[in-house]
Amino acid sequence: MASQIWGGRFSGGPSDIMEAINASIDFDKRLAKQDIRGSRAHCAMLVAQGILSKDDGEAIMAGLLKIEKDISDGTFSFKRALEDIHMNIEGRLSDLIGEPAGRLHTARSRNDQVATDFRLWVRAAIDTLDDGLRGLQTALIDKAEEHADTVMPGFTHLQAAQPVTLGHHLLAYVEMTGRDRGRFADARARMNESPLGAGALAGTSFPLDRERTAKDLDFDRPMANSLDAVSDRDFALEFLSASSILSVHLSRLAEELVIWASAQFGFITFSDAFSTGSSMMPQKRNPDAAELLRGKAGRIIGAMNGLLIVVKGLPLTYSKDMQEDKEPVFDAFDTLELCLAAATGMIADISVDKATMRDAAGAGYTTATDLADWLVREKNVAFRDSHHIAGQVVKLAEDKACRLEELSAEDLHAVDERLTADALSVVSVEASVNSRTSYGGTAPDNVRAQVAAARQRFLSGEKR
Ligand code: ARG
Repeated sequence: MASQIWGGRFSGGPSDIMEAINASIDFDKRLAKQDIRGSRAHCAMLVAQGILSKDDGEAIMAGLLKIEKDISDGTFSFKRALEDIHMNIEGRLSDLIGEPAGRLHTARSRNDQVATDFRLWVRAAIDTLDDGLRGLQTALIDKAEEHADTVMPGFTHLQAAQPVTLGHHLLAYVEMTGRDRGRFADARARMNESPLGAGALAGTSFPLDRERTAKDLDFDRPMANSLDAVSDRDFALEFLSASSILSVHLSRLAEELVIWASAQFGFITFSDAFSTGSSMMPQKRNPDAAELLRGKAGRIIGAMNGLLIVVKGLPLTYSKDMQEDKEPVFDAFDTLELCLAAATGMIADISVDKATMRDAAGAGYTTATDLADWLVREKNVAFRDSHHIAGQVVKLAEDKACRLEELSAEDLHAVDERLTADALSVVSVEASVNSRTSYGGTAPDNVRAQVAAARQRFLSGEKR
């Protein structure tokens, strides 16, 4: 017999296999809070518009309160036979209050209901990730301040290029994660419209007040087109694309930490709290958390690809394919929430081997540019010529198997007579980073100013 809420025109129930492929309750129970909130807003509006009696409205509200409590206590029994969160809640409401429960779905469809629930959920997820990002930025900014004048090699092509400060390097990630927060905020603003009242697809003949329900749910306005309201999932895709870009940033940071922690680099050590050992090799301290951060990006990008492919060929409006929208979003959110916590903990905990970093900063003739710049500034040599002269100095140091700062005044003079003894003052790594005072440059004083600015830009506002 058809016991389903939609079973009026059916004489048989679904097969077990049909039930198994159709049911979404195992995952969409995560929308329970949002579903109840949406139902409250809808119910209050129906009463205010005279579509539902006050008494029925009160019975529904009381039933929803009980259901909400049971769900948060963990005593609610979710049933696969009732397919999804919407029908599980309505089914329970009917057990609790009888006939009035059947009036709640007036002028509503699961299509506008699920779109509403999911927007509310993604909006809250963005707020949670924003808190996580803010936490990561705090850890990065604190470390940057601590290492405003810790010198390290800056790389291009993973070849030592010019000395930079570790603080400057960490602040690069503060900028990236700042844009991540901006992307989520932009997506949030765009998704903050209410689908509720769109009905199954065409709107409804009942005199709804969609402005009221939108306001009640803290949406900026009702969505203007009912067909669009029930059928687009671009808000979930925007969430996943901002998530993917963030995961790529975290992955790049993680990869750098892995490299820096290697014996060959020896720049940093992870704390015990963020390292693992090897079951065979007693000496190992493995950066598993960082590696997982790097690996999880694949999963998040996979979630985005997956949903894009689900949605790409769907005709308007709702199709059941769209039930596939939730798991990738839930998974990406859970993964990112954990990744942000791990990245924050790792950064806060790393210890830095300043001497090794400083030593590496001066290897590979990283201050050759400073010598070329000195010739331009002090001797009015054209940069293309000074570049050539500095190259000859590098060659000489290479022949003598020494660093630029170990060359003597005579060595320099022998390469070019304009290279007087005071040219030596610019080839130390400290002199090099101290001179990089252009806006956005790596000089320690700049870094300290940028630390203060970053605190102001990213951490001073109220948390949501
Ligand atoms: N569980 C469904 C989903 O997640 C809810 C909407 C069902 N609508 C429908 N017409 N069958 O998409």
